[in-house]
Amino acid sequence: MLADDADPELAAEKLIHPQFPRSASYDPLWQGRYADGPNPLWLAESLTDLMDLAPGMRVLDLGCGWAISSIFLAKEFGVEVVAADMWLRQETWPLIVEAGVESQVMPVRVEAHDLRFARGYFDAIVSLDAYQYFGTDDLYLGYLQQFLASGGVLGIVVLGVTEELDGGPPGHLADMWTWDHKAFHSPGWWRDHLERSGPVTVEHADLVPDGWKHCLRWQELAALAAPPRARPACAEWARRLAVDAGRTIGWPRIVARKD
Ligand SMILES: C[S@@+](CC[C@H](N)C(=O)[O-])C[C@H]1O[C@@H](n2cnc3c(N)ncnc32)[C@H](O)[C@@H]1O
Repeated sequence: MLADDADPELAAEKLIHPQFPRSASYDPLWQGRYADGPNPLWLAESLTDLMDLAPGMRVLDLGCGWAISSIFLAKEFGVEVVAADMWLRQETWPLIVEAGVESQVMPVRVEAHDLRFARGYFDAIVSLDAYQYFGTDDLYLGYLQQFLASGGVLGIVVLGVTEELDGGPPGHLADMWTWDHKAFHSPGWWRDHLERSGPVTVEHADLVPDGWKHCLRWQELAALAAPPRARPACAEWARRLAVDAGRTIGWPRIVARKD
């Protein structure tokens, strides 16, 4: 997300936060540069606060983007990660090697409906700001769960809403709300959706605490330090998030265990 000439002090001011002490030990420019949306390390840290990951577990990071969340999981928890995305970048493997986790993180280019893993292979599946692209389908979890071991855990964090917007978005967001925002759902919606579409029990469904504030900080940084053509839209999102103040937009965080 960040342009090559982004100011390191500004990146540190916006991306280092006491709510994310593990993430804070990673170079802020690295965090900002190799992210497709509000910080994947924050999303990973928010989720792993609720998941018991132990060294040697096999984890699928589905929709990993640049795979910095996969690197984070490997370094912080000693797990083995398959970093999976349909648009794997050429920079991803060098990033993994540079981080010294090449024996723990395997990048794989795969489409979420065409996974080629053995049944029951993973102890955990995480998906950060990606599950909304494929996981709202009623049939998807029934497919995905076959790759989880019995008792294994699915953890997702997605951009979403505090409550379902049955009457449409509020006025201060209406002109920003495009067709793809239909995939923004509430924690309650995700709970019901997952429990009725696969053999799982949802153990946790809430919003990342202060998620909108973190999202706002991210957009404020992007408005100043993303590649120039992206800045106006980020500035406008920052303005709307500030007006919204967490009434509508948040980060649903869901943990479900396979029965
Ligand atoms: C918003 S990006 C988030 C990436 C990364 N997790 C992060 O937080 O920076 C969503 C990612 O999901 C991936 N994705 C979307 N649909 C997918 C699909 N059907 N199969 C595999 N990956 C998919 C995209 O390629 C993209 O990298």
